[in-house]
Parts: sequence; structure tokens; C-alpha cells
Amino acid sequence: MLIAPSILNADFANIKSEIDRVSNSADWLHLDVMDGHFVPNLSFGSAMVRAVKQNTSLPVDVHLMITEPEKWIMDYVSAGADNVSFHFEATNDSVEIAKKLKSRGVNAGLAIKPATPFHAVADILFNFDLLLIMTVEPGFGGQKFMTEMLPKIKTAREFINASGLKIKIQADGGVNLETIKSAAEAGADVFVTGSVVYGSNDPSQTIDILRQIISSQ
Ligand code: DX5
Ligand code: ZN
Repeated sequence: MLIAPSILNADFANIKSEIDRVSNSADWLHLDVMDGHFVPNLSFGSAMVRAVKQNTSLPVDVHLMITEPEKWIMDYVSAGADNVSFHFEATNDSVEIAKKLKSRGVNAGLAIKPATPFHAVADILFNFDLLLIMTVEPGFGGQKFMTEMLPKIKTAREFINASGLKIKIQADGGVNLETIKSAAEAGADVFVTGSVVYGSNDPSQTIDILRQIISSQ
């Protein structure tokens, strides 16, 4: 079970100290790249990924919400990303991109929007290290967790286990103290947590509490 705080709600002017606030408790740092096309919002690009990488020893988990990710992935590899997830809906070349990432020693993640059913990606999943299931519409932090995505997480978990694959399932969007347990029970094993962590007074303690919730029976 891994907790990956999203820095989307962090103070970008003090990114080093913002990273330090979670460095003893987070497993990965999740970086949401938004291009203003694939999603209506604009966030940051590979320069931010490089800056974060230079200021942390945590794995850097990049979530690309951009059109034509095939044009840009190498910028994120060069910036030092450890994982790069891109959207299935944004490209016709998902498997090619995964191969390219893996040839550079980077973990490949396939992200799917709420409207994309699991069966659309089942056949190509073996090419990936990570399946990112959006539990909100991508674009903004602070939205409400879509409980109707829980059956999708469950289906993905059953498929992955039955196939003997070692692919992590990441729940992204609206994961907080109230919703993390149901995401874990459905089968997610990586939890992106944005506003609940950086919106709290003590981000590190909040991560510890989230961890306790998922490990309690
Ligand atoms: C949404 C992003 C999420 C989001 C997480 O497009 O992919 O990573 O910022 O933030 P919260 O936890 O606030 O939903
Ligand atoms: Zn994300």
C-alpha cells in the first residue's frame, strides 16, 4: 500500500519545503501535468518535474493529462521521472509509449478516465507497471470521489490477480480520510492524495492517519 501525495495543492514558490513536509511519510510524490487541452486546467511541465526530482529522494510519479503524450514523454524521462502515466484516451500509441518508457528504465502507467471501462484496456495491460484509475474527472484537485468507480477497481484487481500480473492499481481523485478505505477494499494499492494532505496543517501526520485507515481491518 503506497501513498502518493499530489503536489498540485502545494505552494509552488516554496516547493523544496513543501516536499520536505511529506518526505518522511510519503511513498511517492505524484505530479499532475495538465496541458489545458486534454483537461481544461493548466498546471506545470517537465521543468517542475526536474525541480522536484532534484529536491527529493522519493520516487517521482508523473501523471500526464496531455494530448499526444508520445510527443512529450522523453522530456519527462530526461527530467528524472521514475513513473510516467499517460491517458489511454489521449493517444493511439499506448503500447509503443509503454515500450519506450520501459526501454529507458521508467515504469509505465496507463491512466483511464471515469468513462473508459476497464475492458477497453484489459488486453494491453500486461505492457504496463501501473494502472491509474481516475476516481474524479481529471483536471482539478479537491473534487468528490466517484464511488461508482469502485466496481472498476474491483474488476481490474480481479483481472490482474487472475492473470498473475504484477501491476499496481492507483486510485486518483477525491481520496481522503472517508474514501480511502473503500478504494483499498476494492483493490487499489496506490493512493493519490491531494487536497487532504496539502490542505491539512500537518501533511505528514495526515499521511500516517491515511495509512492507519487502510491497514486497519
Ligand atoms: C486530478 C488529479 C489528481 C488530483 C488529486 O486531475 O489527477 O491527482 O489532483 O487531488 P485530490 O486528492 O484533491 O482529488
Ligand atoms: Zn493525478
